[in-house]
Amino acid sequence: METPLIRPRRLRRTPVLRRMVAEHHVVPSSLVLPVFVREDLDEPRPISSMPGVVQHSRDSLKQAVNEAAELGLGGVMLFGIPEHKDATGSGGIDPGGVLNLAITDVVAEVGDQLTVMSDLCLDEFTDHGHCGLLTPDGEVDNDQTLAAYAEMALAQAAAGVDMVGPSGMMDGQVAVVRQALDAAGHSHVSIIAYSAKYASAFFGPFREAVDSSLVGDRKTYQQDPANAVEGVREALLDVEQGADIVMVKPAMAYLDVVRRVRDAVDVPVAAYNISGEYAMVEAAAAHGWIDREAAILETLTSIRRAGADVTLTYWASEAARLLRR
Ligand code: PBG
Repeated sequence: METPLIRPRRLRRTPVLRRMVAEHHVVPSSLVLPVFVREDLDEPRPISSMPGVVQHSRDSLKQAVNEAAELGLGGVMLFGIPEHKDATGSGGIDPGGVLNLAITDVVAEVGDQLTVMSDLCLDEFTDHGHCGLLTPDGEVDNDQTLAAYAEMALAQAAAGVDMVGPSGMMDGQVAVVRQALDAAGHSHVSIIAYSAKYASAFFGPFREAVDSSLVGDRKTYQQDPANAVEGVREALLDVEQGADIVMVKPAMAYLDVVRRVRDAVDVPVAAYNISGEYAMVEAAAAHGWIDREAAILETLTSIRRAGADVTLTYWASEAARLLRR
């Protein structure tokens, strides 16, 4: 029997060796923590489908973002849940709306330590739960929605946000937001575009997180999971329209799209490790079926390896703590 001349196992022999030759590293500064803030809450309220994640009160949000800053995260992505929803999602545009107030709070608290980002979309604010305005026939009206996004961007910029995240998958949304910001003197506000966003079953727990009233699906605006080339096209279009960062979402079932987009654009690429991805690992871990901490780090490493420069994840603070060890 011949003995092998080449032995890749030599570099796997000790933890120190393995660490030295690791090709990819998850670093806290590349992680963004998504946070939910709900109007009129005194106490944080648990989200049952996302154990460990809560709807924050304005007070508990301050604690969470201070912790995120202390852990050296890259940023926070804010989502607001209004007390009252309506057909046009007016709570998202109202300067006194929960999301805009939260932006100002968070900027005052940790604006010099974290990049403060906000979801720029109507679905948390509409009573029908869609990401845009509806025509009388109930179709999502692309161009009317663009006008609402422009207004919402201005409200978020006025509240002091660093970076807005248009996530509604309307055609032309990045260009409209960029023009609106620039025309109002907010040219320093950057755009993290949800570019390749798929109509995914893995968004399920998020619907509970934002008390969504959506019936049906988002298949006329979010992408078909079968399409990868189209994901690259969407990212290229967003770069052309002025996106500073492009995002692929979800992450785990779309790592090929993360890689393709990484290879196709010359701006940073983000990936969103979404609610359902979080819930699956948490549920399996709660049953003792999976090593929770190892699964978290492996998940985040795989997203990094696929090419994400920035990862949005509900585990951001916890992962930063694990990485310190
Ligand atoms: C839209 C938005 C969604 C998520 C982030 N922004 C919901 C959707 O498009 O259905 C999902 C995030 C997650 O599932 O963790 N405002």
